[in-house]
Amino acid sequence: MTTRHDDGPTSRIPGFYRLSPKARLSVLETARVLDREDLAVYRSAGLTVEEADVLVENVISTFALPNAVAVNFFINGEERVVPMVVEEPSVVAAVSNSARLAREGGGFTAETDPSVMIGQVQLMSVRDPERCLETLREALPRLREIGHAVHPRLVDHGGGLRDMEVRHVVYEEPGYPREDMVVLHFHLDCVDAMGANMVNTVAEHLAPHVEALTGETVGLRILSNLADRRLARASVTLRPALLGTADMEGDQVADRIVKAWRFAWADPYRAATHNKGVMNGIDAVAIATGNDWRAIEAGAHAYAARDGRYRPLTTWRLDDDGSLTGTIEVPLALGIVGGAIRVHPTVRANLRMLRVSRAQELTAIAASVGLAQNLSALRALATDGIQMGHMRMHARSVAATAGATRPELAAVIARLVEEEDISVEQALKILDEIRGG
Ligand code: MEV
Repeated sequence: MTTRHDDGPTSRIPGFYRLSPKARLSVLETARVLDREDLAVYRSAGLTVEEADVLVENVISTFALPNAVAVNFFINGEERVVPMVVEEPSVVAAVSNSARLAREGGGFTAETDPSVMIGQVQLMSVRDPERCLETLREALPRLREIGHAVHPRLVDHGGGLRDMEVRHVVYEEPGYPREDMVVLHFHLDCVDAMGANMVNTVAEHLAPHVEALTGETVGLRILSNLADRRLARASVTLRPALLGTADMEGDQVADRIVKAWRFAWADPYRAATHNKGVMNGIDAVAIATGNDWRAIEAGAHAYAARDGRYRPLTTWRLDDDGSLTGTIEVPLALGIVGGAIRVHPTVRANLRMLRVSRAQELTAIAASVGLAQNLSALRALATDGIQMGHMRMHARSVAATAGATRPELAAVIARLVEEEDISVEQALKILDEIRGG
């Protein structure tokens, strides 16, 4: 069992999935995960049309998605109840189950780089790239000063410009004339923000100076979503005995998980699906916390292809003592201030639920959730396949549509699955029998 080092509320809430949404909120309040103010937010419709109208253009309404909660997470010695916004059945149940297994061995260990984003200032069609590179290299101290002065408040918060480099980038597509570009890369520590706006402001601010110094023409001035200075890493070790199923011993399951991972390492077709499962978890946390999940997706997949071949974002290996160890390394540009976070009441409540005070803590949690999600997918795929779980979820919604009450649900679901006829008509028939009709 996990030794708790943390005096906060526990995330281990057995039977949480069996409760109604209303009862789940009460349990979270009793467990001190949520306070009264948060409860009111979760009971409300969330973002109002007026609030939405401030966020984007041409708003006509808002669009709701399930706001669920993953339980059982224990990360870096801290209990974490994790809000997840996702429309796909089984994702939240599966990740909570993996988190329960993981906490038996002490949970997840995660660490993250500082919140350093990359910005790019591109010089187009450079005639003498070597000379241009040299000029910029010599000017780097001055350009650093200029970049650093753009966001004084960021500097007050411990962030600011960290580094700058120049790169020679060549367009040499066969059949087309070559074009030389010189690109100024700068690294900006955005502390608790995702940072896109801050980086773009610095890029636009530097551009005229870069033009004046080189006599060349600036093209794009924009951040890079390949945020490989902002990596998050998490790991987990499990005793194979925990992984066993009714039909398979734990060490066989562990071995199959490793073999499934090797398949993803060797084959981009499998790696894409493998990473999609990882992102099921990471995106759901990104959305729940008001973050730009397209940026996260773009960064993750670009990073997965960094050695020239698309690879899995995780690794799974057997240790000498037979334990199974999983790791993840992924760029995660997640913020806890600015953007939708300022406006969206449910996002703010979700961040309070997570009890994070720094963006890096959120990043550590999201990486752990991605790893846990991958574990649950590989375990299911290596054993019963994923359709069994999906069938149960489908049966659940069919039973509810047929009017099954909470106490009746489990029996109706079990019969629907057993009889391999998951239809509303069949559910009605079963309900009639149960009710003695
Ligand atoms: C489904 O959303 C995700 C999986 O396909 C991931 C995987 O195959 O590893 C189950």
